[in-house]
Amino acid sequence: MKRAFRILVVTIIALSLYSMVPVALLYLKKQVRQPTNAETVETLKGNKGEYFGFMVFGDNHAGFILDDSAAIKIFRNMNREDRFKKLPIDFVASLGDVTFSKGLESDYCTYDKLRSILKWPMISAMGNHDYQKGGWRSFKKHIGSNEFSFVDRNSCFIVLDNNITDISEEQFLWLEGELIKSAPYKHRFIFMHKSPISLYQKSWFRPELGQWSYKAMKLFQKYGVDIVFAGHEHMFREGTFGGVRYVTSGGGGMLIQIPESEGGYLHYMVVRVYGDYVDYEVRKVFPPFWEFVTYYMWKEAFYCLRSVFLRDGFLF
Ligand SMILES: [Fe+2]
Repeated sequence: MKRAFRILVVTIIALSLYSMVPVALLYLKKQVRQPTNAETVETLKGNKGEYFGFMVFGDNHAGFILDDSAAIKIFRNMNREDRFKKLPIDFVASLGDVTFSKGLESDYCTYDKLRSILKWPMISAMGNHDYQKGGWRSFKKHIGSNEFSFVDRNSCFIVLDNNITDISEEQFLWLEGELIKSAPYKHRFIFMHKSPISLYQKSWFRPELGQWSYKAMKLFQKYGVDIVFAGHEHMFREGTFGGVRYVTSGGGGMLIQIPESEGGYLHYMVVRVYGDYVDYEVRKVFPPFWEFVTYYMWKEAFYCLRSVFLRDGFLF
């Protein structure tokens, strides 16, 4: 019995160490300059046809080993998305919080290393962590523009910077102008870091308390936006308001605290544009083994015990 237990422990340790190899190699890798948002948009200009796909993720928070290890696994899964040879995948969009805590230059360098794993062109929105303590300067240097729109095939994409949560009057004017210009296209998609409505009602994030939230939602409704993608909350949730689909997709790497049953899991999204139609799938990604053993397993155990002993009173 003792021997079996020892073998089990040694196996778990060996598998955990083995699952850390990709992140160790990432840190040893030389940083190579990656395309800016403008350069990525340029590569999309030659795309033809009305059938295509793109992928979305948020909140990888580069610069912390647990986050980077998970992001590598997510990116590797993304790279396999064309294995069924269905629709061409045009690009990947990050919904912001690409850096860990205070927009450190070193975190942006790690993000560049991570981006170099992906075989798809990539655009990134700005999150609150990327802006902090002058981090916006590094964002400019590594990623470029923080607010822009672009066209790919039959769809118009608008990238908004609301890292401070609010959207200013000036931004609203620009946004409405872009939505008016998008009229000839079949679809309109928004990428922003913070959603105007939290789809998780237990969340600490309360955008609905700000006036900008209702105003933004009315604008999205007026101009027939298909989907508003946001990150910030480290989870997956979806909801429809006024005919507009809202998605929170913030499970791109950062340690997730919310229970899995409520959307707290690592994931990315694959969106399919099929002429007039749009749909998406969420790809759940199992954490790297060492992360499961040291964190995710205990997170779920904690919520399980809490629901048994604490949620509705002790035991019953
Ligand atoms: Fe975040």
